[in-house]
Amino acid sequence: MSKEFNTIDDFNIEDKTVLVRIDINSPVDPDNGLILDDTRLRLHSETIRELSKKGAKVVILAHQSRPGKNDFTTLDQHAKELSKILNLKVQYTDALFSNSAKEAIANLYPGDILLLENARFFSEESLSRSPEEQSRTILVRELTPYIDLFVNDAFAAAHRSQTSLVGFTINTPSAAGRVMEKELTVIQNALDNVEHPCIFLLGGMKPDDSIDVMGNVLGNGTADKVLTTGIVANIVLWAAGHDINDVNRAFIEARGYADMVEKAKELLDKYGDDRVVYPSDVAIEKDGERVDVGIDEIPNNSIFDIGVNTIREYAKIIREAEMVFANGPAGVFENPDFAMGTEDLINAIASSKAFSVIGGGHIAAATNGAGLADEMDHVSSGGGACISMLAGKPLAAVEALKKSKKMED
Ligand code: 3PG
Repeated sequence: MSKEFNTIDDFNIEDKTVLVRIDINSPVDPDNGLILDDTRLRLHSETIRELSKKGAKVVILAHQSRPGKNDFTTLDQHAKELSKILNLKVQYTDALFSNSAKEAIANLYPGDILLLENARFFSEESLSRSPEEQSRTILVRELTPYIDLFVNDAFAAAHRSQTSLVGFTINTPSAAGRVMEKELTVIQNALDNVEHPCIFLLGGMKPDDSIDVMGNVLGNGTADKVLTTGIVANIVLWAAGHDINDVNRAFIEARGYADMVEKAKELLDKYGDDRVVYPSDVAIEKDGERVDVGIDEIPNNSIFDIGVNTIREYAKIIREAEMVFANGPAGVFENPDFAMGTEDLINAIASSKAFSVIGGGHIAAATNGAGLADEMDHVSSGGGACISMLAGKPLAAVEALKKSKKMED
């Protein structure tokens, strides 16, 4: 695969200005705004260190969260954390392509590292468009004259065709960074050697990605069963006709995921609840405490985790699997009362014989927190990107890197 696109090894980067796109989108404590897990910062620090050591002027582009969310912050803190991890100064500018950003880039010396502002502060960043269209945006037009090479290391965001991920590949020589290279190699290997029973455990807060993937992996025969947790499970429960009650329906609707219910229903009709598996009980918060209830007796309280019976049932299926791909936490694991589903399933995967791939920032954080990362075969930095790849979907940013290499030939 690596021959299809360039890597850092294909360029002499000494004295060159290298724009490197990384993904340091991290869980942030909603109360104090502090980064809760630095896994992604640590991962990308290796690529940054290598570029700096080889004498490049390193300019970093990254994003944190999405507009409208309470962890949609500046990257000031990320720069400080990166500095600590690298033991090198990482400069930060609260600008993206304004004169002050360009001045900061122009003032860099070989080996210097500069982190630009959250790319999603740029209103066009989150629009999904072709690399050609993205190459005409103001962000790309303003920064291109200042850079010699574009390195995309942001595997975790590689499924997005967003400006900073694909726009520079049209007019600037481009390469994959080390994180991107490793993720693509390891996951492709797993894909080429799928063993059955193969289980997908899908949870987290991005049900649009998950439901899409569910259709793909059940349809193309990769997955024997999909075990649902988190908001994905709540949508499937609703689709299966269980009354998840007003507060949980309103939560799904408020996030714009109500149309996922129809899609989940189609999957249930096509594959049955033996393959699209949903919880038999859930944990709700009542009077400040965790209470486990059956799925036909859910009161008007928020669902924060899968229930104890479901954990037992899912753990049994995991124990009998040859391969497990897990994406997204099972509940609000940041709250100790609702961490049980996520922690117990991570434990079940770690102690099973199955080849295991864990994907997604939050579940990767929980795996690291439990000290079980070494027990897994691969802990991917990507959630949506990892799972899209497993579903056989092309990743927009990788396709852009391949096209950039083709254009050179
Ligand atoms: C992720 O955390 O999965 C990546 O950073 C992509 O984030 P997104 O789903 O907000 O595009």
